[in-house]
Amino acid sequence: MSQDAIRTPALADYEPTLADDRDEILAGLRASPKRISPKYFYDSRGSALFDRICELPEYYPTRTELAIMREHDTAIADAVGPGACVIEFGSGSSVKIRVLLSTLREVAAYVPVEISRSHLMTAAEGLAQDFPSLEIRPVCADFTQPFELPAIDHAVRRRVAWFPGSTIGNFEPDDALALLDVMRGQVGTDGGLLIGVDLDKDTAVLERAYNDAAGVTAEFNLNLLRRLNRELDADFDLDAFRHRAHYDRAQRRIEMRLYSTRAQQVRVAGEQLSFADGEHIVTEYSHKYTLGGFASLAKRAGFEVRQVWTDAERLFSVQYLAVD
Ligand code: TRP
Repeated sequence: MSQDAIRTPALADYEPTLADDRDEILAGLRASPKRISPKYFYDSRGSALFDRICELPEYYPTRTELAIMREHDTAIADAVGPGACVIEFGSGSSVKIRVLLSTLREVAAYVPVEISRSHLMTAAEGLAQDFPSLEIRPVCADFTQPFELPAIDHAVRRRVAWFPGSTIGNFEPDDALALLDVMRGQVGTDGGLLIGVDLDKDTAVLERAYNDAAGVTAEFNLNLLRRLNRELDADFDLDAFRHRAHYDRAQRRIEMRLYSTRAQQVRVAGEQLSFADGEHIVTEYSHKYTLGGFASLAKRAGFEVRQVWTDAERLFSVQYLAVD
């Protein structure tokens, strides 16, 4: 291969379209409170806005998780062991996977699974340049549904799921349990899960992280409506909705909301929907865990927490779980 030839990893493509999910979206918008699933955030504009969120001064999770990974690299490599096939659920951050691949020993293959095809392929091609001998097998799919793992050429000693960014927190407890269960099935006996889990903390710190001063999180949230307008024939007036994130301490979760600033009618995919003045749509939850609370969730899914790494302030954790 010539030096600057771009190696394009072969893609297993199951990318869904919004139209596939029309009924699910309409059902959410008819419910009370209204809901839209956060999995639709990540079109190419949404993915770019999300990358900006990760850099915000108020948004501590990304930089804290990276610092934990760098500080405990040897212990992480020891826990995972050599010859792992790393399956990433949602190949979001290109920085974290580089840190992980540089940390682990003799990685057999890397399987990024991601709903946004453009984001997935850009990331996979960039990675192929930086890790020329790494076997990369991207899968474009909604990872909340079962998907087929691609065949791997290299010898795999162990399958390890990689689920950073506390994305687990974006699932309600029953769905988080179901997803952990899917992961346990994908990695099989002797498999592992390396996961980033955000920890419960002071309300003000949490609410600041999701209501940044520069308004990037607001733009990210409103982008959902922009996407429905474009892909699902909707006519949301983006100026008539306002972003606000609120921490519900009893439920231990951030709720991202879009508030209607007036009484209004919106058409979505041929259906008329009414919004009262001040009514909101819930667009995402971000559950925060205590270490004990997460360990018991993991146990119910058939995993055992083997190691927990945190920062000095205990803002965030990276954990290694083994199939029980
Ligand atoms: N899972 C992370 C969290 O909940 C990252 C994330 C997902 C996020 N969607 C978001 C952060 C929306 C800010 C806004 O924190």
